[in-house]
Amino acid sequence: MTPPSSSVLQVEGLGHRYGTSTVLRDVSFAVAPGEVVAVVGPSGAGKTTLFRCITRLIEADQGSVRVGGRDLAALRGRELRLARRDVGLIFQQYNLVRRRSALGNVLMGRLAHLPAWRALLQRPGPDESALARSCLEQVGLGQYAGARADRLSGGQQQRVAIARALAQRSRLVLADEPVASLDPASAAGVLEALGTVARDHGIAVVCSLHQVELIAGFADRVIGLRAGEVVWDGPASTFGAVDRAAVYGPTPGTSRTPA
Ligand SMILES: Nc1ncnc2c1ncn2[C@@H]1O[C@H](COP(=O)(O)OP(=O)(O)O)[C@@H](O)[C@H]1O
Ligand SMILES: [Mg+2]
Repeated sequence: MTPPSSSVLQVEGLGHRYGTSTVLRDVSFAVAPGEVVAVVGPSGAGKTTLFRCITRLIEADQGSVRVGGRDLAALRGRELRLARRDVGLIFQQYNLVRRRSALGNVLMGRLAHLPAWRALLQRPGPDESALARSCLEQVGLGQYAGARADRLSGGQQQRVAIARALAQRSRLVLADEPVASLDPASAAGVLEALGTVARDHGIAVVCSLHQVELIAGFADRVIGLRAGEVVWDGPASTFGAVDRAAVYGPTPGTSRTPA
């Protein structure tokens, strides 16, 4: 399948091995602006490796990754910085600067947009501060702008991370198990905020999840990964019990230990 050129993310024929074990095999998919994709699969299926190959934290052995039509591997210097700016990252362990305020953390998403001298001084102008505040409001944290990141709950910290990606003007957000450490109610709230922000701003989201019950009401599409291969790719509304079994194996439940 040739992905549409309007895709924010195009992954084609991605393959990766650790030593002699093949962890990703011929993984291909494309994600459109505003599309919210849940990547599901048992522990060890290759979800984190897939994210690392996309962000080039590790070099894939095969295949290509394009963000906004650009192959990151071919870019250097300013072009590479601009392309990286398009990608917002959210991880399972809240990757905020703990001693900074919620607003300060969101402002860090603006650094890539500031003139170098201002970024060095870490002195945002009033426009940047107003933008950062509005991003916090969009994830329901307007009243927590001044709160220190490490005083916020896990769910609130993940919302700050979403606001930071929004302030960064990311076109693509990659979230690797962002709600794995949260209770079900907080997890659902964080995913709802992520989905809303994505659809409102046309941001493409690729989010890995352990809890398949959280897909409904969040994702438009599900990609099922099993032993490094895409074994399911389709609308979230049609991902049923039989499809889950195909992804998680003949005895679902036995292999769902969290990573
Ligand atoms: N740095 C590494 N070196 C060797 N093997 C690894 C490394 N990272 C992950 N693996 C292996 O690759 C497979 C996929 O891991 P991972 O991408 O973390 O899966 P998931 O995120 O779906 O749990 C697993 O079998 C894991 O043990
Ligand atoms: Mg993982």
